[in-house]
Amino acid sequence: MQHAEYPIELMHAVCTAGASNGLASASPCIPPYASCFRSCRRRKRSFSYRSRTSFDVGKINMLRKAVTILVLTLIAGLIPADSTAENAAGQPDHPWWRHAVFYEIYPRSFADSNNDGIGDLNGITSHLDYLKALGIDAIWLTPCYPSPQVDFGYDVSDYENIDSIYGNLKDFERLEREAKRRGIRVIMDFVINHTSDQHPWFLDSRSSINSGHRNWYIWHDSRASGQPPNNWQSIFGGSAWKFDPTTSQYYYHFFYPQQPDLNWRNPAVEHAMFDVTRWWYKRGVAGFRLDAVSTLFEDPDLRDNPVRPGVNDLGDPLMDNLYNDNLPEVHDILRGLRKVADEHKAVLIGETWTATPDALRKYYGEHNDELQMPMDLAFTEIATLSATEFRKHIAGVESAGIWPVYVISNHDIVRSYLRYGDGQHDDAIAKLMAGLYLTLRGTPILYYGEEIGMQNNDPQKKDDVQDPIGKLGWPRQKGRDGERTPMQWNDTPNAGFSQGKPWLPVSPSYQTHNVASELNDPNSVLHFYRHLLALRRRTPALLDGDYLPLNQDDPNVLAYLRRTKSSSALVVLNMSAAPQTIRLDLSPKGLASAKLWPLLTTMGTANPQATVAQISLDPFAVYIGEIRK
Ligand code: NOJ
Ligand code: CA
Repeated sequence: MQHAEYPIELMHAVCTAGASNGLASASPCIPPYASCFRSCRRRKRSFSYRSRTSFDVGKINMLRKAVTILVLTLIAGLIPADSTAENAAGQPDHPWWRHAVFYEIYPRSFADSNNDGIGDLNGITSHLDYLKALGIDAIWLTPCYPSPQVDFGYDVSDYENIDSIYGNLKDFERLEREAKRRGIRVIMDFVINHTSDQHPWFLDSRSSINSGHRNWYIWHDSRASGQPPNNWQSIFGGSAWKFDPTTSQYYYHFFYPQQPDLNWRNPAVEHAMFDVTRWWYKRGVAGFRLDAVSTLFEDPDLRDNPVRPGVNDLGDPLMDNLYNDNLPEVHDILRGLRKVADEHKAVLIGETWTATPDALRKYYGEHNDELQMPMDLAFTEIATLSATEFRKHIAGVESAGIWPVYVISNHDIVRSYLRYGDGQHDDAIAKLMAGLYLTLRGTPILYYGEEIGMQNNDPQKKDDVQDPIGKLGWPRQKGRDGERTPMQWNDTPNAGFSQGKPWLPVSPSYQTHNVASELNDPNSVLHFYRHLLALRRRTPALLDGDYLPLNQDDPNVLAYLRRTKSSSALVVLNMSAAPQTIRLDLSPKGLASAKLWPLLTTMGTANPQATVAQISLDPFAVYIGEIRK
């Protein structure tokens, strides 16, 4: 059996402990709800960009505007005509998702159309033009099915409907229709490991030991001592077993007690859940993001997990989820789901926390017959901007020979803006991160607000916390509210998200970081994302090129080529706060006398004179150029 790879580790300690005891691999710890970053974030908060005065910001913005207009004008004149080839995504046998850019929407927080303080489907529909202009091809909606909202939708009580707080099926159809009109596909989140305890299946299951749905969940007697059946822990705190007095047995829940695990060893569960996907495919959805895929199966003998010294942020003993995470049977289910998906030309994305790219490779399937897009979440675990660390991980992905799916933030992880920001160059760093994950091989997934440099806004006191793990773990674990705050549309009260009181407070950063203001600022993070996504779309080397690392010993600058047979793009990223100059020798790549044409850069001077022999970079600069023989 393989060692546990689901993010069991809610606490910082595990980041280092796993490697040394041989139970976890040497590379990143896998904390989804991210104590590693929560620790880092605490440190970084003292440098918050919020300490700038509005006077500073105004002056800086004026200067930036002037400089950027100059840069873009210069570059526009230099872009070779054939670098705008549009046809790369149109090849007949091309799976649509391979060149697509995905965008994760947390519906509660995107846009509120009826002013009840909670975002909804009509709110999303009203902003599709924005997404289109940004360069988005597919939106992934986190769960908007009927739900008691204990885990904000990840506790589903009906898989074939829409929760009334988000609208109804008609609203969904309209959203889909309007998205389709703009060439945007809709991906649903599929919570397959567990349902809500209010799902009719579970209500029936718990009603009697002989109920028709009893075996749809995992029930067990207590140990002789009256204790839970084994030592397994919920990732959300405490035992993973809850005693149910109606039938005097325990049921199993990897997440909250209100999220009982389905029993995937029961073919009826498989049948019903596969049918759910068909139901949505018939309504036009283009695929699913599968939640918590690694946790579908448990050891039939319910063996105790190994325990290590120490406790996590929630006060539970450290444990390796050897017997309730990442069991091989999960791959049978993924193959089955893929067959159904293939019948509908749909894509399956996975929430796949793994310790290494090799472990991630298993989720593609031995014959590429499982997930097309298992997410690579490892960037979210590189806590500091380090060319060496990023280069190392990319090399691992490349040698695993997989089609990467990079993400840098999501609704469970502290926003990248805060993770990497130094308080002085935050916007430059946000662009730098975009310059990285949007120019690497693969299909990237953006998290809403990343494109405007949204940052975390964590609760200041326990009473303000909405996320139950934040209440439970306060103050060490503040929960995930901070990364789920309302989208910042403009600088009016509530950032244009709602005219009612938003369910989470808007980040104060909305005054400077919002869509409307950034659209007016050619040097904004948003403008950079738009330019970069447009460049990516029209540059075959960025879509399909191989990844060739350059200057591999440089601790400050990450540089690489993306190369197809007929074109090469050069990406240079200064991951340091100091200016850098790099010299590239491309002769080993057969490009000895190559010329360099700037395509997109964050630098005020555009550096049009740069040659492959010498590129000068401002702190945290991005330089993307085309190499021509
Ligand atoms: C992963 C989701 O991303 C997270 O938000 C949720 O709490 C758990 N799975 C449980 O469904
Ligand atoms: Ca609403």
